[in-house]
Amino acid sequence: MLMKTQCTTNEGMLGDFLLAANSGRHLMMRMPDRDAETDEFAESVAAGLAARPRRLDCRFLYDSEGGRLFESICRQPEYYLTRTESAIMAARAEEICRYTGPVTILELGSGSSGKTGQLLAAHAELHGPTHYVPVDVCENSLRQACRAIPARCSEVRVTGLHGTYEDAFALFGMTSPALTLFLGSTIGNLDEDQADSFWRSVAGGMATGDFFLLGVDLVKDEQILNAAYNDAAGVTAAFTRNLFARMNRELDAGLELDKIEHVARYNPRRERIETWGRFTAPQSLKVGPLGQSFSIARNEEILVEISRKFRLPPLLEHLRDHGLIARKTFTDQQQWFGLLLLERI
Ligand SMILES: C[S@@+](CC[C@H](N)C(=O)[O-])C[C@H]1O[C@@H](n2cnc3c(N)ncnc32)[C@H](O)[C@@H]1O
Repeated sequence: MLMKTQCTTNEGMLGDFLLAANSGRHLMMRMPDRDAETDEFAESVAAGLAARPRRLDCRFLYDSEGGRLFESICRQPEYYLTRTESAIMAARAEEICRYTGPVTILELGSGSSGKTGQLLAAHAELHGPTHYVPVDVCENSLRQACRAIPARCSEVRVTGLHGTYEDAFALFGMTSPALTLFLGSTIGNLDEDQADSFWRSVAGGMATGDFFLLGVDLVKDEQILNAAYNDAAGVTAAFTRNLFARMNRELDAGLELDKIEHVARYNPRRERIETWGRFTAPQSLKVGPLGQSFSIARNEEILVEISRKFRLPPLLEHLRDHGLIARKTFTDQQQWFGLLLLERI
């Protein structure tokens, strides 16, 4: 059975987490701030539209419809990322768990936890009862994962946390010895400054000897990259458009969605895919809860998401500067994707 708790304060959350960690039950905890999600969405959209170039926070791509569409993206033939990382995980899960020894397994931006099942099974097989703590802003994906994981592997107890990465950092001190997962090259959705602050918080929260497993998409042929973010079935386009549909649903934005196109292209100078919403006609975008309105010009593009691609040597050096040393570096045969087991020193 999946129990759900609503935390009223951050301190309450930490107390609830400790109770859950010792209770033996499957739990899903909602952070107190999640009720303020619509206000945060409105503030974030207004701030992003006031900036130049205009941009949106990709976190808001993941409402329940966005979570469902992302799962479908992962199954598209052009989207090599999921199947490549999954294959590396399947081949290396046991080796990773042998190296870490028994740990609490946290996952940031866990989504459906699809790839994590193999790691949890390997951990349970080697070390016995296993505590898994997935954290995600997408309540639907999290709820499904909290149900599916223990049904597949009875040795795994799940405490899901409906919250942000920042909410999860508060748990780091309570879960050591721990292995934290950040898969799907989700780190690539953070720009350089955001990533730097992310790594500072991660390294600051981890205890010496804790582990971090990072999945990163590597620089490769532009055509392969462009195809991955422009699948023929149009699922990624629907995912992008859903962010604007969410604005209509939650912010009363009044947008004509058929006049917004998905544009994703590789920027070779910055080694990243940039995904934009291009307005094919001028429109007024309202942010209802704030009583604000923005004029968007014909052919104007709003940045929806970046997906940075990485080269291993500079990335490993950057992580080392944050006190995270790569103990194992796995890639596939084509060197398309990397899975790095890092240790906090
Ligand atoms: C690219 S998907 C990856 C999902 C999964 N880890 C995988 O590898 O397939 C990013 C995930 O991070 C979640 N997410 C995005 N921003 C977040 C944030 N600020 N805090 C917590 N979760 C976030 C999304 O809801 C989504 O499930």
